[in-house]
Amino acid sequence: MNLLHCRTAWPLALLLTAIASSLGGCRDDADQNDELATDSASTGMVDSTGGDVAVPTFWQGVAPIYFDSCVQCHRAGGIAPFVLDDYASAKTWATASAMAVEQRTMPPWLVTDDGSCGSFADSRALGPEAIATIVAWSDAGTPEGTVRDDLAAAPLAGLDDGVNTIIEMASPAFAPIAEGTEYAQTDEYRCFVLDPGVGADTLITGYEVAPGNDALVHHVLVFDVDPSLEVGPGETNGDRIAALDAESPDRDGWPCLGAAGDGTDPGGVPVSWAPGQGATRYPEGTGYRVPEGSMLIAQIHYNLAAIDGEAPPVSTTVRMRVAPSVEREGFFDLPDPFLDTLFEGTPATLEAGQEAVDYTWEFDVDPLLANFGIPGLDLFGVLPHMHGYGRSLRFDVVHDDGTETCGVEVPQWDFDWQLYYFYTSPVRLTAGDSVRVTCTYDTRGATEAVLPGWGTNNEMCLLGMFVVPAFE
Ligand code: HEC
Repeated sequence: MNLLHCRTAWPLALLLTAIASSLGGCRDDADQNDELATDSASTGMVDSTGGDVAVPTFWQGVAPIYFDSCVQCHRAGGIAPFVLDDYASAKTWATASAMAVEQRTMPPWLVTDDGSCGSFADSRALGPEAIATIVAWSDAGTPEGTVRDDLAAAPLAGLDDGVNTIIEMASPAFAPIAEGTEYAQTDEYRCFVLDPGVGADTLITGYEVAPGNDALVHHVLVFDVDPSLEVGPGETNGDRIAALDAESPDRDGWPCLGAAGDGTDPGGVPVSWAPGQGATRYPEGTGYRVPEGSMLIAQIHYNLAAIDGEAPPVSTTVRMRVAPSVEREGFFDLPDPFLDTLFEGTPATLEAGQEAVDYTWEFDVDPLLANFGIPGLDLFGVLPHMHGYGRSLRFDVVHDDGTETCGVEVPQWDFDWQLYYFYTSPVRLTAGDSVRVTCTYDTRGATEAVLPGWGTNNEMCLLGMFVVPAFE
């Protein structure tokens, strides 16, 4: 399989939309909530009123759910603003928590995950019983129950599996400055070379990122770039990067709003990370090949909106898990035909002042299949991505006969929680299928038509895809 074919087959997608965007990944701890809820239903209910209705207590009914699904973030030193591992704090936050779980804004898991639209691995979604238990406990006045100390937060699954090798790479300590451009008002997008220290092809099977500063680092993408690939008349990726790098000799790295720098042409995007994401492990048996001689380039999106005064220098660490071989090699793509309109004369815009304005794009998979000479593609994971005006997103596979398969639905977009969603089993794309994505925006906060772009004040309608060619 030659990834270059995929570039020519899907030129806009790969040439132009392998770009800056806040991206996310999957979570690793298994969802045991239904189990826990069933458990709590049998052991955690007390009849506190002496009447007919059994009411769950905190320690017997709710805490097991919290420790399993909330406490990894809601603990002392965690990323959430309050703890849920002690009764007093949980009681204070009971009403808000009941609301958050009912509206499915917590735990952060943006996709509809009740079986009606895709089915996802490592789901964070709470089952209906767990939600009912939390709501019933809150409604009943938060009875405490019998204190217990045998609960522990579900550990985050790590990257290391004891078999694969971990490669660790760090960006230089870099103090970002807001670019202040139309596309990056309070942001800086900067690229750095990461050195994997490996003189051979690498097969990546997973990754994790330590941002260095949670408030500053909004996403990290790692592109693999063939430095000898021609990107213009007499100019290679390597030349292009050297020229960009020379523009600011007093600062590390180079500006890179687009991909690994304007005009560069990466082979793929093996790492896409956003805050709140643990280790991302590619689906079982799959991997992504970075050919020997490729450069690994980290694009770091710094957002200075939350920073008072000058930003401190921050070094970001990327850890990649690599295998000697994998059963099936896949590639990452970041199609966003909305963004592509920036390069097509008159860019598409979103009307300002609207409660709901849609942008829909669709592409046919046939040219891609023809280029690979394969009957199908297995879509293993999706990464929905919009910016601040984003409200909801939906992806469907439209089949030849007019029938549709729901691929992913994000009913309530939240820019702060961008995750890669991997399917429990891949979605097969075959001849005649097309991929259709509809993004809905709330532009009431905008006074002028919203342009596509990479800054957080512009919009995108992107569906990252991890696809593996199917040979039969
Ligand atoms: C992956 C980390 C994470 C997990 C898991 C998580 N939270 Fe949160 N939670 C946060 C963060 C961070 C915030 C701060 C606001 C934000 O960023 O959305 C938050 C905010 C909240 C809030 C404030 C109001 C709101 O809705 O934003 C409530 C209530 C809440 N969480 C309840 C829960 C409950 C209950 C669970 C488990 C069932 C849970 N959270 C699981 C990270 C998490």
